[in-house]
Amino acid sequence: MRIPDQLSLAGLAAAVWAALTLSVATCSLAGEPPQYDGQALYLNHCANCHGTYGEGDGAVTPSLNVVLQDLRYLSQRNDGQFPRAWLTRIIDGRESRQAHGPYDMPVWGAVLQTQEGYDEPANARVTAKIDAMVSYLETMQVSGAGNELEQAVVAPEALIE
Ligand code: HEC
Repeated sequence: MRIPDQLSLAGLAAAVWAALTLSVATCSLAGEPPQYDGQALYLNHCANCHGTYGEGDGAVTPSLNVVLQDLRYLSQRNDGQFPRAWLTRIIDGRESRQAHGPYDMPVWGAVLQTQEGYDEPANARVTAKIDAMVSYLETMQVSGAGNELEQAVVAPEALIE
């Protein structure tokens, strides 16, 4: 009986050690930005103008000075390649917009920065949110003649805050 007891004590110590090590690992992961739901961000930040499905028919479009491009054809208009880097710059807007004067779309990099704050973790959250939205736009892309999006999107109402 003694030996197995000692063994299980050793096992317990090992388990405690593993748990401690794991929790340290979790702590360092806590410094990473969270995973954002790109669809929810899109619906809350973009759909008012660009429409629930990206067609460009959001509620405020009548008051805009331009006709919005259909966001489902970004890849098609770019020779079938999803223009991720370009979109990231356009949506962030902090670099690209200054050079191009006034533009009706909010400068999302600046808007999100105001919400998140100005330290390093906040910068990482801003980047992660823009990435999540760009990835969501990628799922919207129409590949063939049909529009698969309306099947792909699940209950948009549920995600609007
Ligand atoms: C206040 C209305 C408004 C909101 C909200 C808005 N946009 Fe825009 N967006 C515009 C306007 C106006 C343009 C310029 C016209 C155009 O290119 O469609 C534009 C352009 C774009 C373009 C370039 C389209 C192209 O093909 O040239 C992308 C991509 C885009 N918006 C994505 C987004 C995303 C993502 C969001 C949410 C984070 C968003 N927009 C929120 C008004 C808006």
